[in-house]
Parts: sequence; C-alpha cells; structure tokens
Amino acid sequence: MTDPARPLTLLGIESSCDDTAAAVVRAGAQGGEILSSRVVSQADLHAAFGGVVPEIAARAHAEKLDIVVEQALAEAGVALGALDAIAVTSGPGLIGGVISGVMCARGLALGSGLPLVGVNHLAGHALTPRLTDGLEFPYLMLLVSGGHCQFLIVSGPDDFTRLGGTIDDAPGEAFDKTARLLGLPQPGGPAVEAEAAQGDGTRFRFPRPLLDRPGCDMSFSGLKTALLRARDACMAEAGGLRRQDRADLCAGFQDAVAAVLAEKSRRAITAYLALAPAAPALAVAGGVAANGPIRARLQALCDETGLTFTAPPLRLCTDNAAMIAWAGIETLRAGVDPTPEQLVARPRWPLDSGATPMLGSGKKGAKA
Ligand code: KG4
Ligand code: ZN
Repeated sequence: MTDPARPLTLLGIESSCDDTAAAVVRAGAQGGEILSSRVVSQADLHAAFGGVVPEIAARAHAEKLDIVVEQALAEAGVALGALDAIAVTSGPGLIGGVISGVMCARGLALGSGLPLVGVNHLAGHALTPRLTDGLEFPYLMLLVSGGHCQFLIVSGPDDFTRLGGTIDDAPGEAFDKTARLLGLPQPGGPAVEAEAAQGDGTRFRFPRPLLDRPGCDMSFSGLKTALLRARDACMAEAGGLRRQDRADLCAGFQDAVAAVLAEKSRRAITAYLALAPAAPALAVAGGVAANGPIRARLQALCDETGLTFTAPPLRLCTDNAAMIAWAGIETLRAGVDPTPEQLVARPRWPLDSGATPMLGSGKKGAKA
C-alpha cells in the first residue's frame, strides 16, 4: 500500500468522447491540487453532423493528444520524469478515442519507465468530489451527463453500488435533442437553460416518466416526443415557433427533468441513509450538473433531508483529465496494482459489475 501522506503527482489523459484532455494533479492531505488542466473540445468538428462521429473523434484525438500532454506538463512546470505515474481513461467510451489515449499513455510510460494506471471514465466523474472537497466515503453520487445517468453509492475508489439509472436516454442527450428540435445550438444543455430562464415552466406540463414505479430507474426518451408534439402544436397555431413558445417549452422540459431527478434522488437518499453514513452527502457530477435550476432542486432536497450537497465547479463537471489523474491517485493509494488488464481499451465498463446491465446506447456508445 502506498503511503497516503506521500504527495503523489500524476499525469491524467482523457479521450473517451469529444474532448481531448490532459492534466497534472498532486495529491494533498485532503483532496488534490490541480497543477494544470487542458481540454481541447472537438465540438466544431462534429457540429455539422448533429452528434459525435466516432471516426472523426478518434483521428482528432490521435492528432491532439501529444500537444495537449506537452501543454499540461509545461503549464504545471513538472517534467515527465518527476511524475509518480500516468493515468489514462481506458473505458467506457467511443473505442477509437479510448484506444488513442491508451496508446499515447503506453508510449509515454514505456519511454519514461513510469507506472501506468487504467481509469474508468465514470469513476473519474464519481471520485471528483474527493478531489475538490475531500468528501468521505461512503457518499451518494448522481452522475448525469450526455452519455450516462445513474445513482451510485461510492464506498471506495473501486467500490460502487448502483441504485438505478436511465433505461433509455441520458438527461444530457435529452437536453441536446430538445435544443435540436427547437433550433438551438449544441451542446444543448446551456442553450436550453438560458432559454428556460426566460420561460414559464408551468405552461406545458410534460410527463414525469417512471415516477409511478418504485425504485431509482429513470427514463427521458418519452419527454422529447412530448416536446416535439407540443412544439408542432405551437407552430401550427402561430405559423412558426414564437420566441415565448420556445422559452416556455424549454422551461417546461427543464422542469420535468429536474422533477424526475429530484424525486428519484429522494428515493436514492433513503436507500443510502440505511447505511448510516457518518457524514451523509450527495454529490452531483457530469455535464448536466452544471444546470443551475437542477442544482438548486438537489440543494433544497439535501437541506430537507440533512445531507451535505456538493457540486464540483463547472469545468470539473464536464469531461476533463484532472478527474482521471485523481482517480489514478486514488487507485494507487488503495494499493491496487496497476495491472495490464486494466489497460485493455473497453467500450463498456460498468462501475458496479453486480448490477443489471443498462440497455441502449448513448452518445458515448454503449451504456455502462
Ligand atoms: O459530462 P459531459 O461533458 O460529457 C459526457 O460524458 O457526456 O456532459 C455533456 C452533456 C451534454 O449533453 C450537455 O448538453 C450537458 O452535459 N450540459 C448541460 C448543461 N451544460 C452541459 N445540461 C443541462 N444544463 C447545462 N447547463
Ligand atoms: Zn463524462
């Protein structure tokens, strides 16, 4: 087991979707210090296609990875040889991008003789509250991104219990599709949130799927069909989509997503509190965690149920490599041997191997 007091410094590499990222993170007594964090988005390359094109993503990662790694090391003022290890996302994600990252990391590790840790991208998101806030295990995590949506009890760096998740679209996907249906730019989340701020969330009452069923599973695909119908009705009435209609549709949609997330979080909290955690906490991560009204609903729920609410800063909610470096630090600290098997690039890699597999696929490929 590595001495927990030793300030490990790791390079992290992330390329599982449409962001090429590298970061250097040093472990502190509580949490970590981000010495550098570079993220190069491929959004422009995919914009014309209405979604991430895996082949374009893989090629762009392969072109940019070396540069981004060099920039991250230079900005941190840390030479490759001064690192303790390299951590790389080895799944789940779009396989071409994951392979690009793993190959780059392997080359660096071979050349420098540094240990190489394969990190689960979802573990990166799920462990972020420990990087930023030094949160104690076990905590409850709501992971809500463009590709994933699940409740996890995080009991250790490699100890996750999934309480439930989406059975179809992830909320970020639903935000993106809503934006597309309403002629708003991608990524849809921030655009829909900005429109919703001008709208009346009570005008359209969109469905709250699966609230009538027990458990923490969620569904968001029906929401976009309901939105499409409401949009068409507005357009038929006015001969086009009026600004106020668009804002009200966004507000109604966002309200429905927030209501489902809040109600399912309430149920997840009940299950989590049965473990009698010493310092109960709910943390939220992933791109959708950037949404102000959703955060506010979760904060209110935590105030009511006596949990601490933690949401990482926005730049750490969306994909980044600091979370990968941090997950690598946690893995080494836990004494997990960086085994070669971890370095197989995996398109699908559930955090809780005992849970029933989620069906369908998201923007990052198969759901985990
Ligand atoms: O975590 P992330 O960067 O990538 C994935 O792992 O998917 O999340 C990106 C997703 C996109 O679908 C984007 O529309 C959504 O997060 N998102 C938001 C907001 N900002 C980003 N959704 C709702 N409100 C936001 N403010
Ligand atoms: Zn992600």
